[in-house]
Amino acid sequence: MTSNTSSPASLAWAIVSPYRRQIIYGLLALLVTSTAMLSIGQGIRLLIDQGIATASTVQLRFYVFLFIGIAVILAAGTFTRYYWVSWLGERVVADLRERVFNHLIDLHPGFFEHNRSLEIQSRITTDTTLIQSVVGSSLSMALRNLIMFLGGLIWLFITNAKLTAIVLVSVPLVVTPILLFGRRVRGLSKHSQDKVADVGSYVGEILGNIKTVQAYNHQEEDKAKFKTFVETAFRVAIQRNVQRGFLIVAVIILVLSAVGVMLWVGGVDVINGAISGGELAAFVFYSVIVGSAVASISEVIGELQRAAGATQRLFELLQSTSEIIEAPDTKPLTLPLQGAISIQSLSFHYPSRPDEPAIDQLSLEIHPGETLALVGPSGAGKSTLFDLLLRFYESNTGAILLDGVNIKNLPLKTLRKCFAIVTQSPSLFYGTILENIRYGNPTATLQQVEQVAKAAHAHDFISEFPHGYDTRLGDGGIGLSGGQKQRIAIARALLADSPILLLDEATSALDAQSEFLVQQALDTLMQGRTTLVIAHRLATVKNADRIAVLNKGHIEAIGSHKELLENNELYRRLSSLQFKAQEEL
Ligand SMILES: Nc1ncnc2c1ncn2[C@@H]1O[C@H](COP(=O)(O)OP(=O)(O)O)[C@@H](O)[C@H]1O
Ligand SMILES: [Mg+2]
Repeated sequence: MTSNTSSPASLAWAIVSPYRRQIIYGLLALLVTSTAMLSIGQGIRLLIDQGIATASTVQLRFYVFLFIGIAVILAAGTFTRYYWVSWLGERVVADLRERVFNHLIDLHPGFFEHNRSLEIQSRITTDTTLIQSVVGSSLSMALRNLIMFLGGLIWLFITNAKLTAIVLVSVPLVVTPILLFGRRVRGLSKHSQDKVADVGSYVGEILGNIKTVQAYNHQEEDKAKFKTFVETAFRVAIQRNVQRGFLIVAVIILVLSAVGVMLWVGGVDVINGAISGGELAAFVFYSVIVGSAVASISEVIGELQRAAGATQRLFELLQSTSEIIEAPDTKPLTLPLQGAISIQSLSFHYPSRPDEPAIDQLSLEIHPGETLALVGPSGAGKSTLFDLLLRFYESNTGAILLDGVNIKNLPLKTLRKCFAIVTQSPSLFYGTILENIRYGNPTATLQQVEQVAKAAHAHDFISEFPHGYDTRLGDGGIGLSGGQKQRIAIARALLADSPILLLDEATSALDAQSEFLVQQALDTLMQGRTTLVIAHRLATVKNADRIAVLNKGHIEAIGSHKELLENNELYRRLSSLQFKAQEEL
């Protein structure tokens, strides 16, 4: 989903506007509760002046019922307001998360380099939570307090202008120190949370590498280091609590002193008969309301600023566009695909290394059904070439044709459907083995899955698990050996049944026994498919129809094993170092 928003404000509107009905419910409830709250002051005045002072129990009973009636309305209104406002907050965040994720998942892979994904993770969780607390509570709090402030002030003026002047002078005197203290406490709270997070990540790191820790007898050092983390968290927490204690002390002393001053000035007026006792009580009530409204609003302003920052960051994520752009007039491929690949003076450098081409004027013709082995030193650009074939990166110059069609003119989905890729470390996802094999073809039947698993030499070990195909894999396929993971990845590729196969050192991380099994599985996979294999085993290299020697981003030589041994210095060296060592195993 692409966003159709042009500024953070329009993003906020696009997110909120579908829920106008719910906003109106919340606003109505908010109006009711604010009015009820303000009426309580009048209730108190009437209760005292008309009920208590007249010594009439009938009157008193009436005003007590009135008071309770207002309280019931206040309670019902508060529930309604709370429900709809927090519903809105949760809904908005759910929408934002989906919107951002749906946008990100189509971006070019280069976007996620440099640990960007960790930062994005925190934007989707932390930043959205900030917005949730603003939409789901702070905004409504600010609005409610604004109404209370205005309403309270009006009642104050109506009741007594002289006392109101005193309140207006004392509110800033009371509220400012409380706000300053409050800010300090919040800063320390944040600091304290960070320290606790440090404790958590240290535990995660140590326990995640427990075998290394114990093998190097590193426990004592780790205990000492952990102690410093825990003790720092303790110190910061105590600091925060002392400040918080001071804050509470300040609130009690300042607020109650202000009330005391008012009772003194107002009390004198009551004695002189200038105002009634009920008026004084209502007055104290309204001044507390006005004071706390001012405090709440200034608190919320800080939160609004942080939420605006969060919205801005999410907006930037939504504005980022994929560098891999589908041509507007894409051409369909003639199916079935023959599998001819023509690479024509292709050049590419990674954006982070503008001066160093990873692929340099590379030309290569691969015939339908052929197996071509790519050999070359580490860093020669072999994996990069695969990424360019799949259009994970955009080449700078040159072209790649698939059955004669430039891949830039193909819909991305069509292009990627043409390739099955098996890499050195296969990606398995959290879920069952069945789900992982079905990854490229979710509608495959169990029978089909078993069939490909058998072909991939994976069926036997899967069947031996207590839960068979329903065995759950942890993150990244934990609980399987490298060879088992690899064979599941091959079964997945078989099921996807793509016409061109890309193997990137698919067996290099394996021991000899699993390598043998994986190789057999790969041989099945290669049948009838154009195969590009980045190879490190002499057997694979020798079995290929042709061998291409890649060096510094270009093809240095192409030929058979024998030809290359005779003519190519680099190949001779690779074969004596890399392949020899393999054969001696
Ligand atoms: N994401 C990347 N960003 C910047 N440079 C990269 C990136 N990936 C690979 N390279 C560089 O590009 C060159 C080719 O890398 P690669 O294709 O992985 O080589 P090979 O697979 O042949 O070992 C190397 O110099 C490597 O350091
Ligand atoms: Mg590589």
